[in-house]
Amino acid sequence: MADIAVRPMAAGDANLVLAIYQAGLDTGNASFETVAPNWATFDANKLAEHRFVAVDGDSNVVGWVAVTPTSARAVYAGVVEHSVYVDPAAQGRGVARLLLDELIASTETAGIWTIQSGVFPENAASLTLHQRAGFRVIGTRERVGRHHGRWRDVVLLERRSPTIT
Ligand SMILES: CC(C)(COP(=O)(O)OP(=O)(O)OC[C@H]1O[C@@H](n2cnc3c(N)ncnc32)[C@H](O)[C@@H]1OP(=O)(O)O)[C@@H](O)C(=O)NCCC(=O)NCCS
Repeated sequence: MADIAVRPMAAGDANLVLAIYQAGLDTGNASFETVAPNWATFDANKLAEHRFVAVDGDSNVVGWVAVTPTSARAVYAGVVEHSVYVDPAAQGRGVARLLLDELIASTETAGIWTIQSGVFPENAASLTLHQRAGFRVIGTRERVGRHHGRWRDVVLLERRSPTIT
């Protein structure tokens, strides 16, 4: 991983971030969404302080991570939901793990105590990634939504910060 670095996401990363997003959606196992949003929508929905990209030795964006708030209620102010996507050509080299570790550090520093995510059971890479990064499986929601006309289960995962007490 010597050639991969993680830095804050910038507006200039938009095209590559959205292309990597779409490549993940096209696998059919990343999200119920099928079409990546435009940058204005992405930018409006993701918290600005906790967005990162991974770049290779040529400064090309090869992955990203970002979070959305889960609730407007004050009690859940420290609970966010994240997305992590890596360029298919850069997968299997620890890029997502670097991104998640950066996100964990950044959110903990900001006082965010829980990061959660929903993952399709078929997404073995994502399930392994998250469990290695300290997420636990809460359980599986059964046939909770339709994706391309087919009911899908979703595994709920969370990481509760051990440092925010
Ligand atoms: C899921 C995804 C982000 C993983 O990215 P990645 O950079 O390839 O992951 P990493 O290389 O950091 O691997 C992290 C861990 O997962 C494991 N892993 C990676 N791919 C795997 C696979 N296909 N099957 C099982 N485990 C896998 C790795 O071995 C590693 O575990 P280790 O530390 O014990 O070796 C990537 O596959 C992706 O972008 N998929 C499409 C979008 C998506 O599904 N995003 C997640 C939505 S919930």
